[in-house]
Amino acid sequence: MSFPVTRMRRLRRTEPLRRMVREHRLAREDLILPLFVVEGRGVREPVASMPGVHRFSVDQVVLEAKRVADLGVPGVILFGIPSSKDARGSGADAEDGIVQRASRAIADAVPALCVITDVCLCEYTDHGHCGLLHGEEVENDASLERLARTAVSHARAGASIVAPSDMMDGRVAAIRAALDAEGFEQVAILSYAAKYASAFYGPFREAAESTPAFGDRRGYQMDPPNRREALREMRLDLEEGADMLMVKPALSYLDILADARRSFDVPLAAYHVSGEYAMIKAAGERGWIDADRAMEEALVSIKRAGADLILTYAAADLAEKL
Ligand code: PBG
Repeated sequence: MSFPVTRMRRLRRTEPLRRMVREHRLAREDLILPLFVVEGRGVREPVASMPGVHRFSVDQVVLEAKRVADLGVPGVILFGIPSSKDARGSGADAEDGIVQRASRAIADAVPALCVITDVCLCEYTDHGHCGLLHGEEVENDASLERLARTAVSHARAGASIVAPSDMMDGRVAAIRAALDAEGFEQVAILSYAAKYASAFYGPFREAAESTPAFGDRRGYQMDPPNRREALREMRLDLEEGADMLMVKPALSYLDILADARRSFDVPLAAYHVSGEYAMIKAAGERGWIDADRAMEEALVSIKRAGADLILTYAAADLAEKL
């Protein structure tokens, strides 16, 4: 039966009606807030390219973690900016490294929060690549041990989920084996399985000081035009023992997210990355768009495409409104 019997507008007339037939909604439980941790005390420095985002010292990050837990956000993901870097990324798995200290402090002070840690070497290497170098080549197999040790040190510091974002082949299996061998069989792996070599990471690299000193990450992160390949990546990570999968970035990759939703039953996360956040904020500051509405629209589209969890810099702001 079509028009005039069928009238799609009947169910759009009022907000109560729209609420009744709404297919997807954002909940505080869906959100994970990324947090940047730096050395020092009392530090709360704004990140210029990400309005509303700060780099916190350990004492301050605990306060921020408390605040977001009180808002009902269930998890945070930690990124560390160490004071010194070297070729091996020694800071990544240091017992008293920046993420390890932050993780311990948050796990102790805010038990209501799930601490997730980003496992990668790029914030800790002086060359800024995600693995160990041989000449100008990022060596896959040699990097696995460093990544596995990093994950174990995060688990030891109280992380309940580790999230490898390096895109080395075999890292999930290496991390799972290392965690199990050290008695951390209950620590989960959220794998950045379909992570693309994206221009949208720009502001993050400024915040995390992790821009590669030479070259780029296209030799290990995925090529943006590829879709089928993402399913292979995700399947492999599941076979290696990933508990949850992530697609990153989010908005330009909603097709990948929808594919993943159809193909896998595990919890799916999407990372609404720094550039995606910055674009909305920047246009909002210029008065070109309504940034709050645009942010909600962007985030709900990520849910609609199939994500269970969204990593977003807007998590706290949004949780306040929900
Ligand atoms: C580390 C890592 C990156 C992001 C998350 N983990 C940067 C990169 O791969 O260059 C990006 C997050 C964002 O842009 O918000 N490898």
